[in-house]
Amino acid sequence: MVWTRLWPCFLLAVALLVQPGSSSAAAETTLTIVDAKGEAHDFPIDTLLAHPDADTIMVTGDPAYGTDSPRYRVIPMSRLLAGIPVEGADILMATALDGFVAQLPAARVLSSDPSGAIAYLAIEDPAKPWPNLKGKDVSAGPYYVVWINPKLSGIGPEAWPFQTIRLELKESVAKRYPAILVADTLPADAPARRGLALFIDNCFVCHRMNGGGEATIGPDLNLPMNPTEYFQPAVLPRFLRDPSSVRHWADQKMPGFAADVLSDRDLQDIVSYLAHMAGRR
Ligand code: HEC
Repeated sequence: MVWTRLWPCFLLAVALLVQPGSSSAAAETTLTIVDAKGEAHDFPIDTLLAHPDADTIMVTGDPAYGTDSPRYRVIPMSRLLAGIPVEGADILMATALDGFVAQLPAARVLSSDPSGAIAYLAIEDPAKPWPNLKGKDVSAGPYYVVWINPKLSGIGPEAWPFQTIRLELKESVAKRYPAILVADTLPADAPARRGLALFIDNCFVCHRMNGGGEATIGPDLNLPMNPTEYFQPAVLPRFLRDPSSVRHWADQKMPGFAADVLSDRDLQDIVSYLAHMAGRR
């Protein structure tokens, strides 16, 4: 009898012990970089703050803080990854604490050519914490991938993963997630094919498709049903432009895409891709 009554207390005690939040803060601020051979390298935050190439920069057009961005302590990505095997990798995959997973073009991230966008790893110094994100009780730290001159290389707002904790050098998205691809028979200029590329940069960071992908923030957009099967055709592009114009609640996470990020044609092409995928389950 006593045992059955104590059992819940015991379970609670175990739950408290294994709770992820109870692990030491130090572990949560260690950046893991997985090289192109699959080997993991751990970088404690103190090591990164003391990196010989660390610098302090101002960033403009930062999606996390807008016009209130703090000055960032950064390491150029090309320097951070110097000495780490990158050969054969097409993508630098950045995984964030909240389940956001960006598939960044490795060549772009690794470039230090000032005629294009330059990527930096911003590091939140625990001694000088960043402000909380708007409407949230957490900051963009511990690590945030930021860009200088993003427009020069068409870097959009979803290529700025905040709360990043893991960077992995990987093969192309097409090789790793064949379930998200369009039919081979589609012409090269088919809207759905263009839509796939836009989907990978803007949507795949939060959504999976046909079970393919890594993100855990939003729902799979084909399983069990595809949004083109239950959204009125005129409403879906409107939803993508501004989700709160269709439904609104306090904890809504889906961002709207302004016209300077995705044009009307871009939204139509993404919808064409979704519609195409409804026939490829
Ligand atoms: C930052 C993460 C994020 C990004 C980026 C994002 N979404 Fe979402 N999306 C969500 C979340 C989370 C939901 C669930 C509703 C919510 O919490 O807002 C959602 C909901 C949706 C829904 C509604 C599903 C339903 O049945 O109600 C559709 C359709 C959708 N997203 C499509 C897209 C497309 C297409 C893109 C790219 C243009 C995209 N999303 C980009 C996070 C995201």
